[in-house]
Amino acid sequence: MSNGKTHIGILGIGAIGSAISCLLKANTSLDLYFYNRTPKDTIRVRYNDIESEILLDDINNYNQKLDWLIICLKEHQYDNTTATLLKLVRPQTKLVSIRNGLYHKEPLLKYTKEENILECIIDCPTQQRQDGFYKRLRKPVLTVPENKLARDFEILFPSGEVTIKQTLDFKTSCWEKVCESATLGAILCLSGETCWIFQDEELLELYKTALKESIQVAIEDGAKIEVDFIDKMVTKLLSYPPEKSSSMLTDRLNGKPIELGAKNEVIIERGKQNGMPTPINDLFVKLLKKINTTIGK
Ligand SMILES: NC(=O)c1ccc[n+]([C@@H]2O[C@H](COP(=O)([O-])OP(=O)(O)OC[C@H]3O[C@@H](n4cnc5c(N)ncnc54)[C@H](OP(=O)(O)O)[C@@H]3O)[C@@H](O)[C@H]2O)c1
Repeated sequence: MSNGKTHIGILGIGAIGSAISCLLKANTSLDLYFYNRTPKDTIRVRYNDIESEILLDDINNYNQKLDWLIICLKEHQYDNTTATLLKLVRPQTKLVSIRNGLYHKEPLLKYTKEENILECIIDCPTQQRQDGFYKRLRKPVLTVPENKLARDFEILFPSGEVTIKQTLDFKTSCWEKVCESATLGAILCLSGETCWIFQDEELLELYKTALKESIQVAIEDGAKIEVDFIDKMVTKLLSYPPEKSSSMLTDRLNGKPIELGAKNEVIIERGKQNGMPTPINDLFVKLLKKINTTIGK
């Protein structure tokens, strides 16, 4: 901290990085710094009828001593981030990893001590629109393990704008998110369509069957998934607007690699390790990998 303000870096200014940036911008005790692979000059987010815009006049400034670095990258994007993280992470920098998947801390342990890393999953459907805005569909829910770092993180956000859930069972929360997003993401990505397709009973049945397969792996892996989880997910799915997409479908349409390691691949991997067959996810991954081989990294 210098000039009395807390210095926050946001790494990865895509859908989630943009949504988080606009929320933090309302806290005037913070100085925000932005980092993205492709330089950008603005962040634009729309939520209900409110448009937020941040001008990025100093993007990728590596001279700041950051108190926090909030990483909003997809799992596979961590591979190419070593040089950036080496420049940005100092002994006092606390890291927040917001992403899907399991094992959030692993790729970050070479940069800092474990107690400086906060793992986070986010429920905040946000999708890119043609006009350069990201459209956020809901108030974000961020789930983090219960600890001191989580309490410090929570107070960075203006009150009421986000829900931060602290949990003693972060593993179960991660698994619930993996099951939900891998199932929805794979079906939308492979069909090339948005959520309107679940008006078709057969596709809704496929969603439930694939979700059940993932849940069985999660439970075998130690997650404590409640018995009514599928019903809750179906209710949530049917509440989405017909045009709701998924980041896997968006990546396919944009010719970008689809996030598989944090989703269907981890289900297969944990299934194998626990002796659980995963025929539906095997098929999903076979087809999605084919798509990934046809697009550039
Ligand atoms: N989108 C959603 O609705 C949603 C909801 C819940 C959870 N999530 C999860 O949140 C995580 C982030 O997803 P997202 O949708 O925000 O992804 P995204 O829109 O693809 O954003 C990722 C951003 O990171 C940047 N980036 C990639 N590699 C980089 C590098 N080496 N250095 C600096 N910047 C780099 C990308 O820059 P370029 O401009 O160069 O591509 C892009 O702007 C994922 O795990 C996703 O599954 C997403």
